[in-house]
Amino acid sequence: METLKGKNILIAGATGGIGSKVAKLLSQGGANIFLTGRNENKLSEVANQLHINSNCFYTADLSVPEQVAALKEAYFKVYTSVDVLVNASGIGIIKSMDSLSEIEFLRTLNYNLYAPFLLMKNFLPSMKENKKGLIINIPGVLGKVPMAGAAAYSASKYGLVGMMQSIREEVKRTDIRITNLFLGGVDSAFWDTIDLRVQRDKMIVAEEAAKAVWFLCQQPASGVVSEMVLQPFNHQAI
Ligand SMILES: NC(=O)c1ccc[n+]([C@@H]2O[C@H](COP(=O)([O-])OP(=O)(O)OC[C@H]3O[C@@H](n4cnc5c(N)ncnc54)[C@H](OP(=O)(O)O)[C@@H]3O)[C@@H](O)[C@H]2O)c1
Repeated sequence: METLKGKNILIAGATGGIGSKVAKLLSQGGANIFLTGRNENKLSEVANQLHINSNCFYTADLSVPEQVAALKEAYFKVYTSVDVLVNASGIGIIKSMDSLSEIEFLRTLNYNLYAPFLLMKNFLPSMKENKKGLIINIPGVLGKVPMAGAAAYSASKYGLVGMMQSIREEVKRTDIRITNLFLGGVDSAFWDTIDLRVQRDKMIVAEEAAKAVWFLCQQPASGVVSEMVLQPFNHQAI
């Protein structure tokens, strides 16, 4: 396994159920982490708990180009490279076509697909320059297997997978590695606004999902884990 010590790691969605646990594990492992989230209070809370220096976290809405550009500026004031980019940001709107509005469809694409595109536009060039880096996204199993009522969500996550696979082709002559983590249901705030009968106590615990990311950050330099699937064992879709 590669060591985490001294690795420069950007964690997007660091205020989330999974992202905040990833931040904790990577920080304990000795990585140089930089956190971003949209909610300022939540972000400072996570950063304070981990004793992160105030110049190593930055509030941004990742779907706004100017804010992602400002995030990039803040990041490169501190670090000269991005060894790993963990994207744990995103939203879940799970509604059937009868109740899914146009606005909700677009918002889902905006946060789950356009935002990762903006992250790539801003952080991939540095990886390309260094000819190395690791990008971890969390499309979830609904980015691989469709489910009724997930037209918007699956569209965004299948799109994310397609975009990352295309980028993988673009950078294949470098040591830039791209990993997609397909998670089944994880018990987090993600489900708070979803009107679906689900058994949250049977879902993957957020810490365990974060451990998968922690493991992926240490994958061997001579190979690449192009994808990983982790599902609750009572609800396997793949
Ligand atoms: N939970 C699951 O069952 C599950 C399963 C498979 C895949 N996933 C994926 O895993 C990722 C993390 O999910 P989670 O369970 O940790 O959800 P969560 O607790 O709701 O966290 C979502 C995170 O995304 C951030 N975010 C959303 N929209 C944003 C935007 N426009 N700009 C910046 N940040 C934004 C949130 O920031 P603020 O809180 O600061 O607004 C928060 O940090 C998502 O991509 C999700 O699709 C989740």
